[in-house]
Amino acid sequence: MEVIILKDPLEVSKLAAAHVVHQVQQKPMSCLGLATGSTPKNMYELLCQYYEQGKVDFSRVTSFNLDEYVGLASHHPASYGSYMEENLFRFINIRKENCHIPNGMAEDVPKECQSYEEKIQKAGGIDLQILGIGTDGHIAFNEPSSSLSSRTRLKTLTEQTRNDNRHFFAEEEEVPVHVITMGVGTIMEARKILLLATGEKKADAIAKTVEGPVTAMVPSSILQFHSKVALVIDEAAARLLTRKDYYRWVYMQKPPWQKQIADSFL
Ligand code: GLP
Repeated sequence: MEVIILKDPLEVSKLAAAHVVHQVQQKPMSCLGLATGSTPKNMYELLCQYYEQGKVDFSRVTSFNLDEYVGLASHHPASYGSYMEENLFRFINIRKENCHIPNGMAEDVPKECQSYEEKIQKAGGIDLQILGIGTDGHIAFNEPSSSLSSRTRLKTLTEQTRNDNRHFFAEEEEVPVHVITMGVGTIMEARKILLLATGEKKADAIAKTVEGPVTAMVPSSILQFHSKVALVIDEAAARLLTRKDYYRWVYMQKPPWQKQIADSFL
């Protein structure tokens, strides 16, 4: 597991955006796994800028989002469909038909989940998965106690996650209880994973992800079993890691050819 500790959220976003650009430059038909939430917002803003500047072309990219609220239509302001449109899709040249988000309004939820899995398979699997992390260690919407080999399915949110996400909803609105989310097993099949975390609120989840035991009670801890995963985090999110000096040292000692991608954009 690679742990990259950077000064602040902006540096985290820059490095993450650099990885996405590098991925698409290397493989124009890349399949990207995309996340929502506050953390990747700035990365998306940078990707829009890089697209404007002609540094990256998304015309042949396919994307799959991690999750969606059940009961919210894609045009609902708090839906992840709207989030993606407002933060990325409408500003770049990705083709609408290549952007996939679970349908929160599906009448037959199990069928929608099965079909989502099939679409990922048909697209050849995810090349690069961007992840955020919940304060309880959830990835996508896989809450603690999720099966570590789960597939895309219906999940029930914890009160903690509903509270954490309340700020995305209007005051009088309830945060949905149910979601459709890629499973932990689905996420683990991505060829590369980049998990982003910033701020003190994520410090406990990050420490458990990297240095704790692998347990369904901290779904992100399964990432210890992935051979190509990098956690790009800021100082605040790194606060509770006991070996942070070692992780910093590893990053500083990287041979130039390994640092190239990052350095060309930072
Ligand atoms: C939600 C999303 C996750 C995201 C998490 C953290 O639960 N389903 O994919 O990682 O929020 O969000 P934030 O970046 O806003 O802290």
